[in-house]
Amino acid sequence: MPQPLWLKTVDSTNRYAAQNFDSLPEGTLVVAGQQTAGRGRRGKSWLSPKGVNVYASFVMKNLVTSPMQATIVASLATLDCLRQTAPETNFWLKWPNDVFHDHCKIAGILCEAIADADNRIRGVVAGVGINVNMSRETLNAIDQPASSLLNITGQKIDLKKITNLLAFTMFQSYITYSTLFPRLFARWKKENLLLGKVVDLLTEREVVSGRVVDFGTNGELLLNVAGKIRKFYSGDVRIDRKSLDF
Ligand code: BTN
Repeated sequence: MPQPLWLKTVDSTNRYAAQNFDSLPEGTLVVAGQQTAGRGRRGKSWLSPKGVNVYASFVMKNLVTSPMQATIVASLATLDCLRQTAPETNFWLKWPNDVFHDHCKIAGILCEAIADADNRIRGVVAGVGINVNMSRETLNAIDQPASSLLNITGQKIDLKKITNLLAFTMFQSYITYSTLFPRLFARWKKENLLLGKVVDLLTEREVVSGRVVDFGTNGELLLNVAGKIRKFYSGDVRIDRKSLDF
């Protein structure tokens, strides 16, 4: 497993990993102490203050199918990292790319494909942001209910330790992807608590209500909308708190 690459400050670890994709060894985790222009999904920014959280991007050169499969790899790795750091805590995956604790987001994943001149995928950069030692006050500035490990456990977490752990769980998950994808996929489906639930899905074009009936191997959501099964590759899911049993 390659050593993580530690950067003090960068605009975005995803941008850095994409720009240096060819020279970075396969499976490198690029880590930053702070990001000045952290990127979130759907053009949003990702709050990245200095020395507080994990901001990291994993280089996948062997993943040339869909970036959504990289999200499967990265979200399970993040879940494993969180569970090993705070056992007995209710962490779960919320399609398409979030890790939640109860009703609050604690980590987000942003996978970006690296393509060649003919638009063929050469690999993926999987960006992970985990709220680790963020105070309740700062969390309140986020535009949706959010939490951090500090907020949940009441204890400050050693950032270096949790980042090294993420480098390890990411590498492990990536190996499982390459050798045993069906097992990884089955686990990802099980950890997605949305399965079987009624949700509202906000896409770029519409808001659709339906029941989540399954997930496809490319990470797509299969929704039963008024008796018809429709496939979605992205979107924001809204779910009634009461339909999650915790
Ligand atoms: C989201 O939930 O919107 C995705 C957030 C992803 C944030 C991480 S932090 C490290 C990496 N670098 C970035 O600029 N973004 C990702």
